[in-house]
Amino acid sequence: MKKTIIHDHQKDGIDRRGFLQCMAWAGTGVVWSVGAGVATSRAFGQTPSAAPDGGFSFVQISDSHMGFNKPANPDVTATLRVAVDRINALPQTPDFILHTGDLTHSSKPEEFDTLEQVMRGVKAKQTFYVPGEHDNSVDDGKLYLERFGKGTKGSGWYSFDHRGVHFVGLVNSAALEGMGKLGVEQLEWLAADLKGKSSSTPIVLFAHLPLWTVYPDWGWGTKDSEEALSYVRRFGSVTVLNGHIHQVMQKVEGNVAFHTAMSTAFPQPAPGSAPAPGPMKVPAEQLQSVLGIRNVTFVQQTHSLAVIDEPLSGR
Ligand SMILES: [Fe+2]
Ligand SMILES: [Fe+2]
Repeated sequence: MKKTIIHDHQKDGIDRRGFLQCMAWAGTGVVWSVGAGVATSRAFGQTPSAAPDGGFSFVQISDSHMGFNKPANPDVTATLRVAVDRINALPQTPDFILHTGDLTHSSKPEEFDTLEQVMRGVKAKQTFYVPGEHDNSVDDGKLYLERFGKGTKGSGWYSFDHRGVHFVGLVNSAALEGMGKLGVEQLEWLAADLKGKSSSTPIVLFAHLPLWTVYPDWGWGTKDSEEALSYVRRFGSVTVLNGHIHQVMQKVEGNVAFHTAMSTAFPQPAPGSAPAPGPMKVPAEQLQSVLGIRNVTFVQQTHSLAVIDEPLSGR
């Protein structure tokens, strides 16, 4: 595995951010506690089993790709079911689920049907969705919006408040110069949506593509994300959750912590480690170790979010 050194502030050849990313890639089962812009990590097993008083938890899943049936995963419905089982086995039932897009592989009605049917098995009360490019590039998102976008704005963006935390679902799966795009209309809505919020309100942004530039050569970023991020920099705690790249990567910038998620369907190569992005075949017995769910616990006292990525099976 290649170690990436992006910023070497202490001139010792060790980049803390790069190191954090590498730890994530190595799949060491790290617990991320994010508060006041400082990320710390702990090993699995040291995590409190339930949210402390006043806190709550939610789960992020991503990139289920219903309908995909190539060698990288010939049964994506089965692995989504395993993900649901993992969620239902958590010590604390999450208040809700966030699905960060690529629900389907080809936006077919039967693929959306399967997704809905499997997700009905989740114990959490509700699942919130945003579309990936596989959900809205075939029919301009018509079917997605009919099924999952009721009450949303534009191509499916919206916000809601939950126990003192403000959640914003953004749609960046339209393309702009080979990267994701939010667009002027959505950016104006976002600025207005955040305007009246106190800067002490914890903010969670979730979208399909990363809102930071992970790897532009592969389109892993959002062309106009800087504008969106400029609106949230005044807030004390901002967590940005994405999918699309089918692997865990983390980055912290000031009070903003970025996390990309594993897929429930198939892994993709690390940036630059292959000629192109795409489904990556691993030995069948290893597949579930590179797929996973993310359990996020909000700690009321510190207004911080503890982010735990769990593979579907042990590594
Ligand atoms: Fe995907
Ligand atoms: Fe995607």
